[in-house]
Amino acid sequence: MFVYAHRGASALAPENTLLAIKQASEAGADGIEFDVYQHQNEFILIHDRWVDRTTNGKGTIDSMSFEQVRSLDAGKGEQIPTLSEVLALIGARCQINIEMKGVHDIELLIDYVAKHCRQHKVPSSNILFSSFDHHVLKHLKRYRPDARIGALTAGNPLDYALFAQQLDAEFANIDLTFVNQAFIEDAKQRGLKVGVYTVNHTEDLDKMKSWGVDAVFCNDPGEALAIINGG
Ligand code: G3P
Ligand code: CA
Repeated sequence: MFVYAHRGASALAPENTLLAIKQASEAGADGIEFDVYQHQNEFILIHDRWVDRTTNGKGTIDSMSFEQVRSLDAGKGEQIPTLSEVLALIGARCQINIEMKGVHDIELLIDYVAKHCRQHKVPSSNILFSSFDHHVLKHLKRYRPDARIGALTAGNPLDYALFAQQLDAEFANIDLTFVNQAFIEDAKQRGLKVGVYTVNHTEDLDKMKSWGVDAVFCNDPGEALAIINGG
């Protein structure tokens, strides 16, 4: 079972910062997941549209200049990173899951990622794009049919993983609260991989492994790897 660091190693460092990414990489995570918002022609790592929860600032990202965004303290003195900085830091070390939270120009994002992957020697095959917004994923696939995508759901739909198959996704990623064996079996029958977020406890990690889940998103990837490989 594959371990993605969730928002970087967010149990050990401020989420979605270079420090969290670095610690995830050092912990040997198979992949690193993080959240991306568009800010004008730049892409930055942050989970919420409002900066209040994760930084020392107040307000929405789009009400701020890029300089204001970069002047915020995202915890332990860390800046809100750009996607380019993160791609440079991860390089070819592990898989990369870019979750699109607030991206309104998909073509710009795809072209930005392609350019910075070339620049920082990140294999494009290591990139997986994901979103809860299935319209965004559909748009992305239309623009770049060979892009790898993960379709997210925070619930268990009536027709299980059909949404992910319809999007030609590689992964159907579901909330731990709602995942069950029926969802996993349905996804497998459709040729999909299943990812589950956020899995932090031994009991849940063991259950996901026994259910044949392909990937888990964990706040402490080192600990999760030790539990999975030790069991
Ligand atoms: O990609 C899985 C997970 O990160 C989705 O939920 O709220 O942590 O971004 P959230
Ligand atoms: Ca996320």
